[in-house]
Amino acid sequence: MKARSPIGVCSQVAILTILTLPTPVGADAQKDYMLQCQGCHMADGRGSTGGVPDFRGYLGLFLRVLGGREYLIRVPGSAQSPLSNDRLAEVLNWMVREFGPVEVSSEFVEFTSQEVALSRKPLADVEPVRKILLDRIESMR
Ligand code: HEC
Repeated sequence: MKARSPIGVCSQVAILTILTLPTPVGADAQKDYMLQCQGCHMADGRGSTGGVPDFRGYLGLFLRVLGGREYLIRVPGSAQSPLSNDRLAEVLNWMVREFGPVEVSSEFVEFTSQEVALSRKPLADVEPVRKILLDRIESMR
């Protein structure tokens, strides 16, 4: 039988060490964002062509207008993602903190799994709802 190579054993130890290191807060949410959302929204939230909006300094403003909180859960990218309610809540919390604006992200009430479960009905027609919310945001500013 072939002896196990010392390099193989070393890398197994290294992998085990990495797996057992404590995970920083938000790391799972950021990973979920990278895997499920970033393809369209980009790592820095700037969005992309084809109507993918820029989150930077704006996403959190939805939380300040009537219907906006629910919208962040019901927009198809969120509601139809394969993430569990719990993980979607964490991704949304991470996104609001990450993309701001700071005055909202520092004081907002976090999404919970229960809230996501209650509101998670994908919007059939996003455009008119989004327009109403953007008007509300603009008239508040
Ligand atoms: C296939 C491209 C795509 C993917 C993947 C995607 N989104 Fe989106 N997202 C969009 C588009 C386009 C919009 C604009 C509203 C619409 O037309 O749905 C949007 C809007 C949003 C909004 C509302 C912001 C606004 O200004 O209207 C949120 C919140 C959001 N997405 C969250 C997510 C989350 C969370 C994920 C990953 C779990 C995700 N999206 C994945 C394309 C995508």
